[in-house]
This record gives sequence, structure tokens and C-alpha cells, in this order.
Amino acid sequence: MLVKLFIYLAAVLPAVLAAPRYKCYNPEPTTGVPTQTVTQTTIQTTIQTTAEITTQTATPYPSPEPQTPVYLNWTTVSGYFLQDETTTDPNGFDYISTNFGLIDRAYDSDAEFDPNGEKSQWQRFAHHIGELNKNSDASTEYKVLLMARHGEGWHNAAESYYGTPAWNCYWGQLSGNGTAVWEDPHLTPAGELEAIKANDFWRKQIDEHKQPAPESFYTSPLSRCTVTANLTFANLGFDNFYPIVKEFLREGVSIRTCDHRPSKTYITNMFPFYKFEEGFAELDPLYDGVKYETSEAQDLRNFNGLTDVFTKDKNTWISFTAHSGEITSLLRVLGHRAFRLATGQAIPVLVKVVSNLPKSTTTTIAPWTTPTVCPAPPVTSIANQGCVCTATATPTTTI
Ligand SMILES: *[C@@H]1O[C@H](CO)[C@@H](O)[C@H](O)[C@H]1NC(C)=O
Ligand SMILES: *[C@@H]1O[C@H](CO)[C@@H](O)[C@H](O)[C@H]1NC(C)=O
Ligand SMILES: *[C@@H]1O[C@H](CO)[C@@H](O)[C@H](O)[C@H]1NC(C)=O
Repeated sequence: MLVKLFIYLAAVLPAVLAAPRYKCYNPEPTTGVPTQTVTQTTIQTTIQTTAEITTQTATPYPSPEPQTPVYLNWTTVSGYFLQDETTTDPNGFDYISTNFGLIDRAYDSDAEFDPNGEKSQWQRFAHHIGELNKNSDASTEYKVLLMARHGEGWHNAAESYYGTPAWNCYWGQLSGNGTAVWEDPHLTPAGELEAIKANDFWRKQIDEHKQPAPESFYTSPLSRCTVTANLTFANLGFDNFYPIVKEFLREGVSIRTCDHRPSKTYITNMFPFYKFEEGFAELDPLYDGVKYETSEAQDLRNFNGLTDVFTKDKNTWISFTAHSGEITSLLRVLGHRAFRLATGQAIPVLVKVVSNLPKSTTTTIAPWTTPTVCPAPPVTSIANQGCVCTATATPTTTI
């Protein structure tokens, strides 16, 4: 054992010491990133249409030309779900074993709706939300977003297998390793089981807890989400399960091939009943294998995406199937506390949306950036420190 260790060190140490200590691919821009100024008029009024997205070859959202001016403001409403409470630890929290996190409580609308105490918590909550909507003015709406992360994909397995730094600075840019494919990855067997668990959960929620079924379904175009949405909802007898594929729900775009979405034709062949938002491009207009989207740029696209959904969709119960980083950004934009989801997990968020507001202020966002990567497998990969490359390079386009 010791001998082996020495042989290993003798082989690796010179390279480790000689190599530049470069922390490759830092997904969060640090200082010195040039900024670009966008006025709130652009942010708050842009409606994503196909035309806008297709003309953006590797240029980030937002699109320059606002279509329909809408000024929305929203806020998450706490007091209903455990996920909003500061006392709830997101680590290890399971929406399945907690009735989706719905807090066991009374509502002022119970007296008239359920005088004999016969209705379920979800029935009373649904009634309560209906009352809030009925009694609010024309510019106020309450909506419940049900946001799910996809089941484990091959890229998740590979990131664990290689370690995050090595995954970010080298392996993630390849399309696979000969045994696993992680360019637009599909679900691993464990990921499929997570989606099947979500399916069992929904059946039970509807039959036993009388939770209202989602009225609209939206999914990220990446296969791990289109597949998860199908496995979760397709066989529940819903007559409205025609998910709309939305560009804005995709994962933060990085230089890794797992963020390269498939073509519209590919999605249609796999799920002929899925619908697409107006103008959804045939080929991925955003991924180029060279630049990554900053968190700020992702927040901005989510601001626009949520504005789009809230403006066009009058339904209350809305399902999103998306990604870890994407839901993190959505929660930030919604004003919800951070709540990181493990694969296959989901979170409900009650949102109060107010429209017809005056436009105002200016904000500044960091534009997309080009990271530095290793041109060959890194010498070392250490969690929270990065990896050591034998040389560094800027990524080249893989499409
Ligand atoms: C938007 O909502 C937040 C949270 O309720 C509030 O603090 C803010 O004043 C609102 N902005 C406008 C323009 O109404
Ligand atoms: C490829 O990556 C997968 C993880 O996604 C891993 O299980 C497998 O062992 C790797 N194959 C090789 C040849 O390294
Ligand atoms: C979609 O889900 C149904 C029901 O679970 C399943 O039979 C079918 O194989 C799934 N389709 C794909 C392409 O995954």
C-alpha cells in the first residue's frame, strides 16, 4: 500500500508542483468582470418570443426589443409551506414525506368551506387560494408554482465520479467517456427511479390528499427534464398534460455539453404530444461551448421568463420541470429564500403577482464570460480548490 503510494507520488508530484495553480472555470464571476447596463424598462417589459430567441446566436437574454410592455412585481407569500420557514433545513428535506411541505394549519376561509372539519389540508388550502384570488383587485393574482428538479442524469453521475473541479475544467466539455454519454444526458437508472417516485407521489397526493393537479405544465428543453416530466405525469390520466417546452427553463448555460439542448425535432420525435412556446428554435441558439451565462444574466432571463408565464397564463397551479441551478435562480428572482434541491426533489412556491406598475430604475448585469479550461485531464482535482492543469487553454467551440 505504502509502496504504491510512493510510486504514485513519484509519478504525480513533479507534474503537480510544476503545473500552474490555476483554479479553472469559476462559474461565479469575481471581480474585474466588465458589466453591461440594462435598464429596467428592458428587463421588465421583454416578452420572450421565438423571433427574439432565434436571432440571438450565443448572445444572452434579454432580447433588445421589448414586444408587449408589461410591468409586473411579485413576492412570495410565506406561512403556508415549510420550505419558506427559516427553521426548515433544506439539506435532506423531502417533499414526498412532508405532503409537499404544506403546513398543517387553519385558514380564515375554513369556517365557511369546511364547517364540519371533513376536508383535507390541500382542499382547504386550494379553497383559501381561490378566495384570495376572488377577493383581490383586478391587478393582483395568487399563483402556486410547483417546481421540480429532474432525476439524476449521466452528467450528475460523471461529476461525482470525476470530482467537481475536474468535471468543470475538463471532462464536462467532452460529450462522454465511451461508457456514459453526458451531452444532453438522459436519466441514469437511479434518476428514472426518482421520477417514478415522483409519479407515485403525485398519484397519492391527488387520490388521498386531494391536492389539485397542475393546470399547466412547462418543461426545460433538455432531455433530463422532458423525460422527467413525462415519467412524473404522463400516466396519471390528466387530460391537460401537454407540457410546453420553454427555453427560459433550461439550466444556466455553461461550456459543458450537458447544457447543449437537443433540436426541436428530437424532442418532437421523443414526445409527439409536447408543445413548444411560440418561436422555439430548431437548434440551440444559446450554447456555444465557449461562453457561460453569468448568474446575473440567468436571473434576468428568469425575470423575463416569469413575466412571460405570469402574463400569458391565467391558471393558478403551474408545474415547472427544470434544473438545480435554474430553480436556484428562479427562487432568487421570486424573492424566496435559497432552497437547493437534490435530484428528483420539488418545491412549491406561493407567489402574489401584481401588474400595471410604473417602470423605474436601472440595473447592471454581468455579461456572458469565457472561462479557462484544461486541454487534457487535470493532474489533480480538489473539492473547493479547483484543479491543476498541465496547461491551460480557452475552450473552443464544440458545435
Ligand atoms: C414590489 O414588491 C416588493 C415586495 O412586496 C415591494 O417591496 C416593492 O415596493 C414593490 N415594488 C413596486 C414598484 O411596487
Ligand atoms: C464514465 O463515467 C461514468 C459516470 O458517468 C462512470 O461510471 C464510468 O466508470 C466512466 N467510464 C470510464 C471508462 O471511465
Ligand atoms: C413516457 O411515459 C410513459 C408512461 O410512464 C412511458 O410508458 C413512456 O415510455 C415514456 N416515454 C419516454 C419517451 O420516455
